[in-house]
Amino acid sequence: MKYEVLPTELFELNRRRFVREMEPGSIAIFHSNDLMPRSGDSYFPFRQNADLFYLSGLDQEETVVVLFPDCVKEGFRELAFIKRTNDHIRRWEGEKYTKEQARAVSGIQRIHWLDEMDGILHELILLARNIYVNLNEHDHFRSEVPTRNLRFARQLKERYPAHQFQRAQPVLKKLAMIKTTYEVEVIRQSIDITGKAFNRVLKMVRPEVAEFEIEAEITHEFLRNRANGHAYEPIIASGANSCVLHYVQNNRVCADGDLLLLDFGAEYANYAADLSRTIPVSGRFTRRQRAVYDSVLSVLKAARQMLVPGVLLEEYHKEVGKLMESELVGLGLLDAADIKNQDKNFPAYKRYFMHGTSHHLGLDVHDRGSRYDPIQAGMVFTCEPGIYIPEEDLGIRLENDILVTDHGPIDLMAEIPIEAEEIEELMNMEVVKGV
Ligand code: GLY
Ligand code: MN
Ligand code: MN
Repeated sequence: MKYEVLPTELFELNRRRFVREMEPGSIAIFHSNDLMPRSGDSYFPFRQNADLFYLSGLDQEETVVVLFPDCVKEGFRELAFIKRTNDHIRRWEGEKYTKEQARAVSGIQRIHWLDEMDGILHELILLARNIYVNLNEHDHFRSEVPTRNLRFARQLKERYPAHQFQRAQPVLKKLAMIKTTYEVEVIRQSIDITGKAFNRVLKMVRPEVAEFEIEAEITHEFLRNRANGHAYEPIIASGANSCVLHYVQNNRVCADGDLLLLDFGAEYANYAADLSRTIPVSGRFTRRQRAVYDSVLSVLKAARQMLVPGVLLEEYHKEVGKLMESELVGLGLLDAADIKNQDKNFPAYKRYFMHGTSHHLGLDVHDRGSRYDPIQAGMVFTCEPGIYIPEEDLGIRLENDILVTDHGPIDLMAEIPIEAEEIEELMNMEVVKGV
């Protein structure tokens, strides 16, 4: 791991919050992610399962965390299993956790080797009535690849058919939506690194620079600041590509007069930042680009103020839709007839702004949470309005990350340049361009 070790309290607090929500007589079992096969004898870089990390900070494959808060067997209320290392692994892959290190990272005192798990877990499961299993319940997620958690849950059901099974995800989603102060601190670090990368981009974008060169600058800045890398595939979209919402090819050469839509975020200690900015390749917005830019920015400014406790996300999205509708009329993209004849289920503004405005942010970029619970203090949301006009090769998205508090929203990206004049000024600083 490139990041500095996080405070153990972060994970201890998360475990305390989780066990408070468990049914009496329950054991909860959490697995790490798999090391995913790439090709031949190689694997994709390892990324820890968000929930296992959330509860333990253990950032290694083949790890299992077990919580059994009212276990009658002394010393077994929380434990973890880690991969037993040896000289061969040490020689070829390097250091893996020792038991002492796993204890220090997680605060979990009882650490066993994974090859001891079967016997220990069998005895504990027989002392429990309920077993919490942890499956990926993201409502947008579909995959044919079974996770370690899913494979294990299937084995448990086969082996212990008389036990009650419980879902860990509803509890985890409820908890993960509300960030602790420790977590907000880590998200701030990801955001800080992301801001540094954006400033670097402002200094190097000009006609004839390729999108992948810009991506390389960002990656460079991320890694030199100890980020794991990108929290998601970065979108570096110039010209017509700015209208492709999930454009990730990043292979076009930027041209004079283009807009460049950037959507990227560092992942530091597994916590994501999620930033979007749109800048003129030439260093100056055209009049039309500026008008659309100002519309998007004004929607962002109004929308982030609406991220306050008690508001329902669905209502919030409708309100943002109304703001966007009026901006689109102002820009001449919609007229009164479009509004009058619009289909309630597909409002006219969606022709130019077809994605949601906000999602939870945390260990996952589209973080675990419920879109039906009211907004609460401690939640971190993105705020990301956009206007996409393919007929004009013009797409603009602006995205900041916002912490909800009882005293109003805090824009965690307030320091990252967003005003059009500031962007132009930074892009045209002589010393920067080396003129
Ligand atoms: N970068 C993904 C998103 O903005 O949701
Ligand atoms: Mn984004
Ligand atoms: Mn986003």
